[in-house]
Amino acid sequence: MPGSQAAPVVDPLLGRTIDARYRIEAEIGSGAVGTVFRAHDHQSGREVALKVWRGCEDSQSRGRFVREAKALQTLTHPHIVAVEALGFVDDSPYVAMELLQGQTLEDALQAGPMAADRALAVAEQVLSAVAFAHERNVIHRDLKPENIFLTSGPQGEVAKLLDYGLAKFLAPDDDPLKGDMITVTGMVMGTPLYMPPEQASGSKVDRRADVYALGCILFEMLTGRLPYTGNDFGQLLRAHLTQPIPRLSDALPSQRVTPDLQALLDRAMAKKPTDRFDEASQMLTALQMLPQPVIRPRQHDASPSPSASPSPSPSPSPSASPPRSVRPPPNYMLISAAISGAILIAVTAVAFLWGRG
Ligand SMILES: Nc1ncnc2c1ncn2[C@@H]1O[C@H](COP(=O)(O)OP(=O)(O)O)[C@@H](O)[C@H]1O
Ligand SMILES: [Mg+2]
Repeated sequence: MPGSQAAPVVDPLLGRTIDARYRIEAEIGSGAVGTVFRAHDHQSGREVALKVWRGCEDSQSRGRFVREAKALQTLTHPHIVAVEALGFVDDSPYVAMELLQGQTLEDALQAGPMAADRALAVAEQVLSAVAFAHERNVIHRDLKPENIFLTSGPQGEVAKLLDYGLAKFLAPDDDPLKGDMITVTGMVMGTPLYMPPEQASGSKVDRRADVYALGCILFEMLTGRLPYTGNDFGQLLRAHLTQPIPRLSDALPSQRVTPDLQALLDRAMAKKPTDRFDEASQMLTALQMLPQPVIRPRQHDASPSPSASPSPSPSPSPSASPPRSVRPPPNYMLISAAISGAILIAVTAVAFLWGRG
């Protein structure tokens, strides 16, 4: 029937040249607040990625822009996307970045778990980037596979950290280990699939929130499964709070997993921040010291191995989470008003856990 099919929506920025410099050529990605375009930079003659913040009238998204711009300008690192310029198109701020070719880690994980060597190499690169940021008192707060981009370089695969939109800047004299942590008042932002209990409760975050997310991401890279799942935010939150840390050996029954790797994950994903690595550099050191190979097929292992020792987990793992291809709905960007019930549970549970600790 004529007219029954809606015409495709064409972004009004497509085809425009902004600041007499960037010709916007195609949309390549979008997220919570921004659209990312491929653009041609007339000045350098190269293609760039241009992230434009939409609907930036409210102070919240403007704040995200300022945070991201400041963070990216502070952080020049081989595993953090490089920012080239900042500006405004109409009233919307933009960041021009190096254009990455490849795919996000989220897309890569659709193919299933990664080989252990590859997963550890990606984890090492991302940890080095986050450690670099931690040294400069910047915490990412939204580490997840869709914010990690995999590209290739002369030495092989290169991971690049994207999206410092939720970055938090710790004052130089903030020592989280003395308990002086940043408070995120009234807001729960980020993705609870990788979010530590204390962040989900909207209370306090420090470097150890990034450590927790990195533990969850490493588990997912190695197994192709999310460490915790739930049908809604409340269930997911309860899982992070109450379910035992999942065992790699449960998710990989035909593999022999070195206990040092499980111990590393146990420490990164500990429920209480005080039981975790203090910052990414510590987790990086632990990862670099893992005995190799960390995972190998059981049938190739004739002799009894120390990795057959009982798991350090006090209780059995919950039933394995589903493979990533059937992961729960990703639309978990929430504000506290919508989840006050879940927050109440979290606050109570966190208070309980900390009270015991
Ligand atoms: N520099 C880049 N090069 C290529 N693709 C990019 C680049 N930056 C972002 N993207 C793509 O756009 C998506 C959204 O970018 P991101 O910075 O995470 O935005 P948001 O803050 O909206 O989540 C990414 O997941 C990625 O697919
Ligand atoms: Mg993002």
